[in-house]
Amino acid sequence: MKIGIIGAGQIGSTLIRQFSKVGHEVKMTNATDLAKMKTLEDETGAKAVSPTEVVKDVDVLVISIPTIEIPKLAKPLRQCISGNTIVIDTTNYYPIRDGKIEELENGMTESVWVSTKLGVPVVKAYNTILAGSLIHSGSTENAATRIALPVSGDDQHAKDIVATLINDSGFDALDIGSLQDSWRQQPGSPVYCTDLNLTELKNNITHAKKELLAERREQAVQFIIENNPAKWLEWWTDCVSNNRKVYETELGY
Ligand SMILES: NC(=O)c1ccc[n+]([C@@H]2O[C@H](COP(=O)([O-])OP(=O)(O)OC[C@H]3O[C@@H](n4cnc5c(N)ncnc54)[C@H](OP(=O)(O)O)[C@@H]3O)[C@@H](O)[C@H]2O)c1
Repeated sequence: MKIGIIGAGQIGSTLIRQFSKVGHEVKMTNATDLAKMKTLEDETGAKAVSPTEVVKDVDVLVISIPTIEIPKLAKPLRQCISGNTIVIDTTNYYPIRDGKIEELENGMTESVWVSTKLGVPVVKAYNTILAGSLIHSGSTENAATRIALPVSGDDQHAKDIVATLINDSGFDALDIGSLQDSWRQQPGSPVYCTDLNLTELKNNITHAKKELLAERREQAVQFIIENNPAKWLEWWTDCVSNNRKVYETELGY
């Protein structure tokens, strides 16, 4: 497939590597300086292009930037995206990083907000796995311990395509429903960055409680703040363990 990726940070750069490796034709962009992606270009063969170019003539467009930056993409998307392009939203709202966004503070589902701001439908995926697990914890199809990732959206064909990409990345995919219901995979949910297999994911998704999301998200953030946040990618498995404790309290684990 032809894939455009907006954002080449921890998640975007990993997807660029994974998709290039299995033969997808990848182009990418960032916020500041295309030259910053030269090493990634040389390593993967993915092309660094402008925000306008990255949107053009792609089967799939992945958006992996801070939530607060989302409205800036509306113009290039409106001008250049084809109606057939599937847009994947990997973003999560963190007030500590994004500042307070009123609609999200009032409970609007995050990817519904993203879709509204962009003016295109999106599929929510890859938002529930920490970069460390995305890089290191993929496995072959049918492996008993394979991690599974939830996928939400309103277009079945788009979700099926995203599931094939998730498989390319080394993970199972579980369709959990509509974009409106994608709050079930937001930070603070028992499926958020807890590295569950398919059976566990199917179970835990039913236990997500909307009213607990913000409080649980902040508990998990606090754990990172208290434990050397600058180097969290070196101890991400402790974050997964802590998330399991924090998010799964109500599951009786
Ligand atoms: N890190 C994780 O473990 C994780 C897990 C799941 C989901 N997520 C979510 O995925 C998203 C990306 O996270 P990340 O950790 O990969 O972020 P990151 O490492 O901070 O990287 C962000 C990337 O986005 C680019 N960017 C920022 N604003 C942009 C804009 N307006 N146009 C184009 N590119 C822009 C940045 O470009 P420059 O380098 O030029 O600044 C950078 O390449 C976030 O919403 C995050 O919450 C993260």
